Amino acid sequence: MAEAKRIDGKVFAEGLRVRVAEQVRDLKENHNISPGLAVVLVGNDPASEIYVRNKNKMCGEAGIKSFEHKLPDETTQKELLTLIDGLNSDPAVNGILVQLPLPDHIDEQAVLAKIDPAKDVDGFHVFNAGKLATGAPGLVPCTPLGCLMLIKDQLGDDLSGKRALVLGRSNIVGKPMAALLLREHCTVTIAHSRTQDLAEECARADILVAAVGRANMVKGNWIKPGATVIDVGINRLPPNDEGKSKLAGDVDYGEAVQVAGAVTPVPGGVGPMTIACLLRNTVVAACAQNDIEVPEV
Ligand code: GUN
Repeated sequence: MAEAKRIDGKVFAEGLRVRVAEQVRDLKENHNISPGLAVVLVGNDPASEIYVRNKNKMCGEAGIKSFEHKLPDETTQKELLTLIDGLNSDPAVNGILVQLPLPDHIDEQAVLAKIDPAKDVDGFHVFNAGKLATGAPGLVPCTPLGCLMLIKDQLGDDLSGKRALVLGRSNIVGKPMAALLLREHCTVTIAHSRTQDLAEECARADILVAAVGRANMVKGNWIKPGATVIDVGINRLPPNDEGKSKLAGDVDYGEAVQVAGAVTPVPGGVGPMTIACLLRNTVVAACAQNDIEVPEV
């Protein structure tokens, strides 16, 4: 069997960011609106700092104003909620993102609940999660949205009747991914750490999305021949003999390419899609707040 197609998320995300930048220019020209995104980072988690820096850079390139709020680790929940209140009422801010995870002394759900759902570009507020679950239009979490775009680019827009398996049940990826695929009329199974016969469940799937955070867990013989495999995992492997530590996905890529129809690599697959979808969501939010029809992307 021929090797699977390598789904290039980096190239797809670049194209998406170009299209979003065009929409930002249109908003300025036709409506005098400059979309703005506020990114809040509490503490100094090195990985989060890199994500936030990238988000600001990509905003700049797309013509979106970014407002960065870096707060010390000892920030109280009350102080954070007060900041969000201010951002909720700031007309220059169309989108608000609070980088997760938050320090242990802060209640994540209370913080997410404080964000105005109309500015919730992460789609994590229960109001937006509920809209997605009930099939109403709203802001959709960025990583699953990016995964769906890659799946449709591979399989076409009609996913009706396909068997989809989502491995992982987080609020950030697994649950919204399952809801999105259900909305596309897939037959959706959610598998997780307590699932029995995981390999068997995977082997039935035309679409397999892995988001569990365990390096190389999904083996080639778990995959249905010809399946579309989307790997959300970003796992840092222990350093090799030269002291270099590489990234690995949740899927054993070397094995998967021998069986699947198409697979996303790590890095360069889903990762770049998340920020591109965040920019897209900021445009969606800015349009909705100003009663402007949201352009197709
Ligand atoms: N931490 C890891 N992924 C995400 C994400 O998509 N949004 C936010 N806010 N924090 C994250």
